[in-house]
Amino acid sequence: MDFTGQTVVVTGAGGGFGEGIAERFARFGASVVAVDMRAEAVEAVSQRIAAAGGKAIGVTADVTSDADMGKVAQAALDAFGGVDVVVNNAGITHKNRPMLEIDEAMYDRVFAVNVKSIYLSARHFVPLMRKAGGGCFVNICSTAGVRPRPGLTWYNGSKGAAIITSRSMAAELAPEGIRVNIVNPVMGETGMLADLLPGEDSAEVRARIVSTIPLGRMSQPRDIANAVTFLASDESDLITGACLEVDGGRCV
Ligand SMILES: NC(=O)c1ccc[n+]([C@@H]2O[C@H](COP(=O)([O-])OP(=O)(O)OC[C@H]3O[C@@H](n4cnc5c(N)ncnc54)[C@H](O)[C@@H]3O)[C@@H](O)[C@H]2O)c1
Repeated sequence: MDFTGQTVVVTGAGGGFGEGIAERFARFGASVVAVDMRAEAVEAVSQRIAAAGGKAIGVTADVTSDADMGKVAQAALDAFGGVDVVVNNAGITHKNRPMLEIDEAMYDRVFAVNVKSIYLSARHFVPLMRKAGGGCFVNICSTAGVRPRPGLTWYNGSKGAAIITSRSMAAELAPEGIRVNIVNPVMGETGMLADLLPGEDSAEVRARIVSTIPLGRMSQPRDIANAVTFLASDESDLITGACLEVDGGRCV
């Protein structure tokens, strides 16, 4: 796959899936705008990409802030002249526990990071894509938004909202050549895993989760990067509003 000449914004690129996605796009020739609220992490990722011969800038930003997202769009314009692809990947969860144990502040934060961020991203990047005559969003949602399990109720709800929001964007933006697709990972070995797991993060609990995944393993950043680059490429140019489960058969 070749993204030479394209600019790709990846949020939550300071670690986990986002880091893997950013590195993959850079390897495929894209100019990457790596975004994260953890300044040191995002700097390290962009420096690693540059050291490997890729093009990247790191931008420290909170995806729930309109001003910060404006800063990201401006940084992309200043450094690379536009934006072709936006990967809305930054996300958080509350700890896996009974639903009434999650306080209101946590609920609000989960919805702000997982859902409002898509609204802000659209407000700042759709106008740039319109000007360019097209573009593409890939939003990282979750199997949690398709097949909810107990303990993650408010996270599940936020991912369900992110999925239907993305599909609605796809319907509305298609006539303008802007595609919007969704990747739904199954549990993955990232920084978020400890909060997603029911109970302590132990070999036993992990094994119990893996036993519910027909292909017999959790997801890795490379699995998600494979799906995202396909959905952002010309090879998928008739695909929009699609949800691609990268889940080893978990949702079957
Ligand atoms: N790990 C899993 O099991 C799993 C499963 C399904 C879906 N997902 C989704 O995948 C995406 C990536 O998750 P991950 O597993 O890589 O998690 P992670 O915690 O390893 O990485 C998330 C990154 O997002 C950043 N971030 C968090 N809030 C932010 C904000 N407000 N502004 C900017 N950056 C912010 C964090 O600093 C971190 O670098 C999330 O949307 C998550 O919901 C994860």
